[in-house]
Amino acid sequence: MHRSQVIGLAALILATPSAYGQAGPGGRAAGQSPAAKRPPATKHAQSYSAAQIQAGESRFVSQCGFCHGRDAQGGESGPDLTRSPLVAEDMRGNKLGPLILSGRPAAGMPAFSLSSTDVAAIVAFIHDAKSKAESAGGGRRTVDAEDLLTGNAEAGKQYFNGAGGCAKCHSLDGSFATVGARFQGLALLQRMLYPRIRDRRAAAPQVVKVTTAAGSTVTGTLAYRDEFTISLVDADGWTRTFPAASIKFEVDDPLLAHSEQLGRYTDQDMHDVFAYLQSLK
Ligand code: HEC
Ligand code: HEC
Repeated sequence: MHRSQVIGLAALILATPSAYGQAGPGGRAAGQSPAAKRPPATKHAQSYSAAQIQAGESRFVSQCGFCHGRDAQGGESGPDLTRSPLVAEDMRGNKLGPLILSGRPAAGMPAFSLSSTDVAAIVAFIHDAKSKAESAGGGRRTVDAEDLLTGNAEAGKQYFNGAGGCAKCHSLDGSFATVGARFQGLALLQRMLYPRIRDRRAAAPQVVKVTTAAGSTVTGTLAYRDEFTISLVDADGWTRTFPAASIKFEVDDPLLAHSEQLGRYTDQDMHDVFAYLQSLK
């Protein structure tokens, strides 16, 4: 299976309601399946170029995807944007733009400082994601939990301890030894693919080390990062911004291994590791 298909599976999981708690900050009511309700329809037809949608996708995945899902259909803590009334009413960013720039910090939606070009690209991507979701029938896709039980736990154990490199970070001394008892089926697969730091607000800031073209190094805590720019706050409290293209940098991100792993899993490895984790009780 190719990487894009694996990501497709991962996106499917993100879009599956049973993988999530029922009442999230997105306001999903307990016990009520979001699949039961049709999403609000787009009020104003609008179209965007493929190039703009693609540019928006890469920005969305890096800045928004962690919370809203790579395909905007809901994720870690953010609601499904393809079902958002605000998105349905938006016309070329007139509602989305101000929201993205000011956020709703009290409700867990951060404010972003993005250029108008980036905002426009993200808006294009969100509308495209919404129209794709609508043409898929408006209902959420579902995954049969049985489909997940095709892996081989023994092969998964070998992958975990060997080629997958999982054992470097996860020992079976602690809570990981019972991960299969704590989470089942899609909830476990979602954790395995998109784990969360237990308390992200309390988590230590990410440390970044920049090596300039001239060879000097600056270390600090990561303040901002996209594909063009990286900013850090140095030991004296100054914010320093570098063009990403002309420097080298390493970010100490404890979950980086997991985002990189998404591109590495074959479908078989993923099912095998899943079967192994499910056996840890
Ligand atoms: C840290 C998690 C997080 C990130 C990152 C994040 N969001 Fe959100 N977002 C949320 C939460 C939580 C809400 C729900 C806020 C509320 O309940 O009012 C939300 C709400 C929204 C809404 C409003 C939906 C509605 O119907 O009211 C939009 C649109 C949105 N986010 C877009 C974005 C975009 C675009 C990005 C990236 C530039 C982004 N978000 C990044 C967490 C996040
Ligand atoms: C570089 C370190 C690192 C590597 C390598 C790594 N992980 Fe993780 N993993 C983490 C971190 C950090 C967390 C978040 C855990 C936390 O907050 O307790 C996590 C969380 C998880 C969780 C969720 C656990 C829970 O209790 O919620 C699962 C499942 C998981 N990883 C599976 C794997 C698998 C399978 C592999 C190998 C393919 C792997 N990890 C490789 C660092 C790593």
